[in-house]
Order: sequence, then structure tokens, then C-alpha cells
Amino acid sequence: MALPQAFLQELKARCNIEDIISQHVQLKRAGSNLVGCCPFHSERTPSFTVFTGRENFYCFGCGAGGDVITFVMKMQNVDYITAVTYLADRVGLKVPEDNFFRQEKKVDRNRFFEMNKCAAKFFHNALMAPENREAYEYITGRGLTPLTLRRFGIGYADDSQDSLKGYLMSQGYSKEEIREGFLAGVSQKTGKLFDMFRNRIIFPIFDLSGNVIAFGGRIIGNGEPKYLNSSDTPVFKKSRNLYALERAKNNPESTLILCEGYMDVVALHQAGFTNAVATLGTAITPDQARIMSRYASTVYISYDSDNAGQRAAKKAIDLLTQVGINVKVIRVEDAKDPDEYIKKFGKSSFEKLLAKSNGHIDYTLSNIEAKYSMAIPEEKLRYVQECCDMLAKIYSSVEREIYIQKICEKSGVDPSVIRNEVEKKQKKAKHSAEKERIKTDIQREIGWGDRIMADSSKNLATAKKEENLLGILLMRAEYLKDERLSAILCEKIFQCEFTKRVYTRLIETADTLPFDLSLLGEYFDPDEMGRIMKFVMNRERLENNSIEVALELARALEKIASETVEDGDGSDDSFLKSLEKIKQSKK
Ligand code: GTP
Ligand code: MN
Repeated sequence: MALPQAFLQELKARCNIEDIISQHVQLKRAGSNLVGCCPFHSERTPSFTVFTGRENFYCFGCGAGGDVITFVMKMQNVDYITAVTYLADRVGLKVPEDNFFRQEKKVDRNRFFEMNKCAAKFFHNALMAPENREAYEYITGRGLTPLTLRRFGIGYADDSQDSLKGYLMSQGYSKEEIREGFLAGVSQKTGKLFDMFRNRIIFPIFDLSGNVIAFGGRIIGNGEPKYLNSSDTPVFKKSRNLYALERAKNNPESTLILCEGYMDVVALHQAGFTNAVATLGTAITPDQARIMSRYASTVYISYDSDNAGQRAAKKAIDLLTQVGINVKVIRVEDAKDPDEYIKKFGKSSFEKLLAKSNGHIDYTLSNIEAKYSMAIPEEKLRYVQECCDMLAKIYSSVEREIYIQKICEKSGVDPSVIRNEVEKKQKKAKHSAEKERIKTDIQREIGWGDRIMADSSKNLATAKKEENLLGILLMRAEYLKDERLSAILCEKIFQCEFTKRVYTRLIETADTLPFDLSLLGEYFDPDEMGRIMKFVMNRERLENNSIEVALELARALEKIASETVEDGDGSDDSFLKSLEKIKQSKK
């Protein structure tokens, strides 16, 4: 059973979709709707639309769509009931307990949070315990104060195989839960559970609400692997979280310092740079860039000074500029990373590094310059070409012009030549982006790699008819009451699993008119909701959505369904008959 419709209606009435979405997206009025840059994919021109009247949203760029609940699910990466509870809490409504829904839900996120908190406390206490003096001395020896250890909840996992496991089980957590939370693994040999983190300094990772969602563990001294990080769990996705963002997000300057390591972040916070964050043991992802853009207009990249760090900085520059962040790059000199730099030179020196940090374009240009000698014509040419590659990626023409001047000063090449080259490269880039877009569109059209309607490729024309019919019915649910139409409509006329499911839910819920998309929310995941919105948006663009069009589509589908069935039976039959014949002849 589902949540009562009256409750959902009350919830939606109290939660203004515009208020909720504008916490995350800058919305501008466009006619009767609102538009903004989509928070679910990277874009510079707004294709994310909020339909205030109908209280739903749709992105014409990436196809994300749904109602306010879908939005919260996607934004916070949570399940349906968690999103509903979050919204209900905001507006002072109580989620009805009296239904099976709560029992049905797959993961109890709160239980994972509780278990992780329990583990974090256990690790922290262990670090402070006299018998683990060595671990305490290691980490304080690296300059962290007792206050910092407490603030960040830093802890220690001893080298036994079952310390944490034993403790968590004594607290009532099952082996399965401990394993799923990445706190223990199962030995392939013995089948026994063993603690995942051993002889490591532990850095708990928090989400934005302060829940412990994962752990990073550094080996004490030398050893492999140096760091062990939680892999994804039911409450943790490393590509969508950042270390210490829950602390850094509140800084009033709207800036962040992006580092590579946990130690860098902790050292920076301790020195007063409380806007430092780090990725979680992987290169930065587009999701992380988008998340950062919600809290910062400027990001200072402060990666390790080695080659790997500088390569990683390049990637970070690309992803961060794509989401419209103003990017600056800090170079730590005579130290391998920000942690070591602060220890060697003090916080005022780091302050100076921040102040004199280059914009990312200057940074990249000086990297290019360092590679080539202007005295050798061939190298000069390569220098200009690489610079032009870089300039072609700059969005603002004014900015481009400034750098064109700089490059011609350095190289002595005429600005108009450089300008020409940049324009050529821009055209080429635009062309290949367009080609890429067309390619993915075509692939989508032919049902290739389509997770939601994987079986649509069997018969695309039929799938399109089904989509069109549903698009009209979702918009005009009153048609379902039409006798001519209801005589034809039934599950059997839909060939795709997905459209069949949508139809079934529509019929079940649509007796309460006016039909509202929200009634589907708990049966479909956010991606599926986006697709359902797409059916509607595609139809809405077309003027004619009359009952006659719906009837025509339904009749066509009915015909296709009856032919498919006959064909199937016929061929099976003849196959059986020929088998019989072969048997007979063998006798
Ligand atoms: P220290 O050497 O203690 O100063 O650590 P650090 O924080 O400076 O780490 P480093 O620069 O070596 O690495 C940066 C980040 O990459 C770490 O914080 C980890 O998240 C991750 N990392 C480093 N080594 C490993 C490893 O062996 N395995 C995995 N999975 N991640 C690692
Ligand atoms: Mn380090």
C-alpha cells in the first residue's frame, strides 16, 4: 500500500516547488515558468524549467524531470520515503506510519548512520586509549592538535581482525549490516568476517547533515595500500561527496580550497583555512564539480606539486570551469603538498600563496610556456598552437582577447593570426560537440543503451506510439472515462515493459481526477519519472492532443498487439508441426 493521496496532496500544497528548487538553482522567470541551469548536468544556457502551475520540472537538456519529491530524491540522492520525510519535516507534517510502505523500503538509512556513528566513536576512543599511544603519537607528531582530532572525529583502528566487528555486534548490528557498510569483509578462505580497517588512522567522512557516511584509513608509517577508503555503500557514493564540505560550505566568502588528501584538508582547517575540501581518493567527478558550484563561486585548486598532482589539476580546471566556477590554482613550492607546506612555512605563507594565485588560464599558459623555447621556431609554433587550443575553450570573447594579446607579446606572432586560429578551433570543437550530440540522440532514438525502455529497440515504431498515447493520457486523464477509448485500452496493447507499467499505474491512480504526476512518484525511480515527463513534454509541443488522436493511437496499438499474438502462435504451431513431420519420417 501506498502513502494516502490526501497526505501527498497536502504535502505538495505546502511545499512550494519554486522555494525548494531555488535553494539549489538560480531561477529566472520566463513567461509563466521559471528557468535555470540544470543542477543534474553541466550547462551554461538554461534548459532546466520549473512549471510552477503544474508544480513539476523538466530539463530539456538531460531529460531529468518530475515533481518536488523527485527533485529532492535526485538532489540529495535519497529514496522516496526519505525525500517525503524531509519535505514533511520542513512544513511540519507527519508522515503517516500506518501503512506497509515503511516495512517495504529496502535500506534503513538511519540505521547505517547510527552504525557508522558508533564505529566512529569506537575508533576515536581507541585513538585516545593509553594502549594505542603509538598511533596517537604518530598523528600528533604530524602536527594535529587534540582539539583537531576531536573536531574531525579522527580515530584509530587497531590491528586485530575483530575489534570493531565484535563491538558493533555487541551493539546489535548484524554481520550483513557491518559488511554492507564496508566496515568488515568476508574471508574467501574461511568465510569469516574480518575488520576492514586495521592498524590505520581513521578519518570519518560526513554528509552535509553531519551523518557519518564512510571512512578513510591511513596506514601508520609505511605500507600498502597507503589509504583504504570505504567503497560505495547504501548510504555513500564517493563520486558525490567531498571530504569536510559539511564544515567548509558555510564560509561567507563563497570560496573553497580543493585539495587531494585528507591530511591536507585537516591541516588547512587547523591553520584557519576552514574552506578546504578534498575528493575521496579519486579524481574529481562532474557531480562533485556541480556540488561545489552550489557553495562557491571561486575555487582554489591546491593539489600536490608532483606531476600526478599537476595532471589532476588540469582535469579539475576543466570540470570546475564547465560548471561556471571561477578557478584559481595555487602552486606549493618546496613542499609536496599543502599539509607539508604549512608545516614548513607557516600559515601566513599559505595566505600569500592564496593571494598571489593565478587564474587558471594564466596557470595553464605558463605551464605551456615552460615546455617550449621561443628561440626555436618549431617549438614556438607548438607553443602558439597549444595556447590556441586552450583559448578556444574560453567562453568569454573579452577574456579571449586579453590572452591573445599576451600570447602575441610572448611569441611575436600577429594577433589576427592567433585570432583566426582560435576561431577555427572553436568551430571545429562546436562541430564535434554537435556530432556527438546527434550521435547520442540517434542512439537514444533507436533504443540503444536505453536502460528504462531496453526492449523498445525490438520495435521502435510501436514504442513511439505507446509513448505518444501515454503522453496524451497523462496530460488528459479525463479521456480514460471515454467509452470508445476505454473499450480498447488494456495492458495487452503495450509491448514495452515500461510503458505497460506506466499504463497500469495510471489506471490505478487516475480515478481521482485531476490526475497528478505525483501519484506515480513512489512507483518509479527519478530517472523513470524524467522519462514519464518526457512523454508529456513531447506531446505538449504538438498542438493536437484530442481524443481522436488518442483513439487512433490506441486502435493502431490494438491492431499491432493482435497481429503479434497471431504471428507468434502461428509460427510456434508450424514449428511444432514440422517437428512432428520429422519425427514421423524417422519412424
Ligand atoms: P599523507 O601521505 O599522510 O600526507 O596523506 P595525503 O593526504 O597527503 O595523501 P596523498 O597525497 O598521498 O593522497 C591523496 C589522497 O589520495 C588520499 O587522501 C587518499 O584519499 C587517496 N589515496 C592515497 N593513497 C591511496 C591508496 O593507496 N589507495 C587509495 N584508494 N587511495 C589513496
Ligand atoms: Mn600529504
